[in-house]
Amino acid sequence: MQEWKITYDTWEPEAQPLRESLCTLGNGYIATRGAFEEESADEKIHYPGTYLAGGYNRRTSTIAGEEIENEDLVNWPNWLPLTFRVKGEEVWFSLSNVQVLEFVQELDLKLGLLTRSLLFKDTANRETKLVSSRFVSMANPHAAAQAWELTPLNWSGEIEVKVTLDGRIKNSGVARYRSLESQHLEPIEADQYDEDTLYLVVQTNQSKVRMAQAARTTVVYDGKRQAVSRQSMATPNYVEQVLHISCKQGQSIAVEKVVLIYTSRDFAISEPLQEALKNIERLGNFKQLLEVSSRAWLRFWNRCDLELTCNEEAQSVLRLHIFHLLQTVSAHSVGRDVGVPARGWHGEAYRGHIFWDELFIFPFLNLRLPDLTRALLMYRYRRLPEARYAALEAGYRGAMFPWQSGSNGREESQIIHLNPKSGRWLPDNTFLQRHINAAVAYNVWQYYQATHDKEFLTFYGAELIFEIAQFWSTIAIFSNEKGRYEIRNVVGPDEYHTEYLGSSSPGLNNNAYTNVMAVWVIQCALQVMDLIDDSRVSELKDKCAISTEDVERWQHISQRMYVPFIGESNIIAQFEGYEQLKEFPWEEYKANYGEAMRLDRILESENDSVNKYKASKQADVLMLFYLFSSEELLQIFQQLDYKFDPESIPDNIAYYAQRTSHGSTLSKIVHSWVLARSDRKRSWFNFEIALMSDVEDVQGGTTPEGIHLGAMAGTVDLIQRCYTGLEIRDGVLWLNPVLPDELGCLSFQLRYRSHWLSLEFTQSKLIITIDKGWSKEVKIGVLGEVYTFTTGEKREFDLKHK
Ligand code: BGC
Repeated sequence: MQEWKITYDTWEPEAQPLRESLCTLGNGYIATRGAFEEESADEKIHYPGTYLAGGYNRRTSTIAGEEIENEDLVNWPNWLPLTFRVKGEEVWFSLSNVQVLEFVQELDLKLGLLTRSLLFKDTANRETKLVSSRFVSMANPHAAAQAWELTPLNWSGEIEVKVTLDGRIKNSGVARYRSLESQHLEPIEADQYDEDTLYLVVQTNQSKVRMAQAARTTVVYDGKRQAVSRQSMATPNYVEQVLHISCKQGQSIAVEKVVLIYTSRDFAISEPLQEALKNIERLGNFKQLLEVSSRAWLRFWNRCDLELTCNEEAQSVLRLHIFHLLQTVSAHSVGRDVGVPARGWHGEAYRGHIFWDELFIFPFLNLRLPDLTRALLMYRYRRLPEARYAALEAGYRGAMFPWQSGSNGREESQIIHLNPKSGRWLPDNTFLQRHINAAVAYNVWQYYQATHDKEFLTFYGAELIFEIAQFWSTIAIFSNEKGRYEIRNVVGPDEYHTEYLGSSSPGLNNNAYTNVMAVWVIQCALQVMDLIDDSRVSELKDKCAISTEDVERWQHISQRMYVPFIGESNIIAQFEGYEQLKEFPWEEYKANYGEAMRLDRILESENDSVNKYKASKQADVLMLFYLFSSEELLQIFQQLDYKFDPESIPDNIAYYAQRTSHGSTLSKIVHSWVLARSDRKRSWFNFEIALMSDVEDVQGGTTPEGIHLGAMAGTVDLIQRCYTGLEIRDGVLWLNPVLPDELGCLSFQLRYRSHWLSLEFTQSKLIITIDKGWSKEVKIGVLGEVYTFTTGEKREFDLKHK
């Protein structure tokens, strides 16, 4: 890896699924996996996939006699296919039927360009060089292009080049979903439009989203565009064109395919096919399009890069993470009514659904592209009516957001799921993760803290926060026995524990994280009532039917919520009854299955249950130390009248670190974060594992099904906020750096309340420069002291005396 490039210099078929995911190209509107142009989907090595942001479709499958509906992220027609063969021969080019002499695949993160250089020998001893390049335009969301440069090294002759738009696509990227209904596309039409342009139109069979693709192919040799003979063939879901070209030894032939993709969900269009055909005529060539697209990438990099001059490896992986984040959500997402999917638009895992992973993703965007966070929060706001209905149906008031969200905001968690280890279909009760609601409110508040966007808070954010507070207030029930409020039948972030063994209903009582978050949301709602103007508060109280008694109840809950502790100790119990669970034989299982384990699947396949043990999938209680400073937690616990001493935080961390399998990539982010101040070495150790989550596919096979965007953004945010001690509190941007030695030095820019700030950190110094912004002054706190900076000011701080 170089700082701006990911390079693979050997052809390893078994590594291809992972590389396809990591080499996905996208622009926030569409994303296409890094599959080879000449291959179609098989079940092992190649899986071309093109996904539309928010492009979902529902299908009903029958499993064990039960009808199950799932909403999937649709794999749309493949626009990539491009291949060749020597005239008169039967087989088309594939790496599986040639001898590969040289192979280099390179992803250029700065330009958003994927290239592959090959030298191969076929069965007739012909040696050929092929350089293929591809990008998805960051400038024009609808455009993508590819180019092949083919050089016969020791032969001359006639070749046939085949260019295709292929709509014969099913979703089959995730092995565990393969027995489910997966045909999402129905053909509309496909044909040749003019001499060098093909088109294809399909529609999803339930959501009725229509997509049109148009592809224009040109051939260049001898430095000139050449007219070649072409033959086309089409069926309603497939169109191909074969180009006849004669090659001369040593002379390169360039074949370019430029593509436009439109859908019925686009703005400013008449109809997708008309737009695709109208605009393909206006579209430039590969080089011109690449030039404009790379300039758009550079503009993003200017806002989003982090420079780690002393650690090259971390530098390149962090850039890869930022790259994939910006390919999933970008300026092209704004206004499109899409959320930020946990696995990117890079594969079919978790069906493109939106989870609480936003919590790990938004902090980076808040300080770089706040308009984007605002747009992504609007995805939630637009689904408020559905969330209100869900709350009502479940017997609560306010709004209850789904654990997994897709097109219209209804609960999209699967009802049953397959344990690939045992082959059994099992009920999936993870939908009981009501803490997602706290994440939505927390994200609104964090966005407001970073931007001071009062308009958003007043018109949208406050309504979200109030409705979520109301939900918590009605799901919390006063227990006379405890003299406190309880929240029963939920699941915490640790998805291994979903029920008490022997209980007839799923869910656990008083998950500490959930209960504390509920208190935080209610406190936040009360604070927002003071912050925004009274007339708006009255309007919202009227609209959301919030009475004076309701607000009194909120106040009471925020003082009397129950939080479980383990016995008389200072360890917060993950949920009520946690202490009665058995200790888990970690060493035995780690020896057999490695560090990052899906214990739930392993134990179920052994006819045991993870519910029996003190064994967590991921950080749960520790989430509290991830989201809040010790001062904030102290304030919450004091208000609840619990004796919680921040000194006990390291004990809590140690307790749960020994009992966590890190079966989610989010877990190491949290463990790294919470150790940053008390144990820098272990924090960095966890950071490095989180950093390599996708690059090395540490979960053993999950990255090929889609990247882990929470872990990707989370690692960037660990550098951006955690190790720099960046916190926004009481109108001050605080910095309290604890840079690990391995990190060395660091510099980046960020946007805080409409100002661009440049920050440079070394082990001994911090330099802050304030660029021109909308207000004249910014308050920045460094190592406990507040300084007022004016526009253009630059100051240096000595960190040695901390
Ligand atoms: C984790 C969740 C996460 C989801 C999507 C699951 O494996 O347990 O916390 O939201 O993946 O990333």
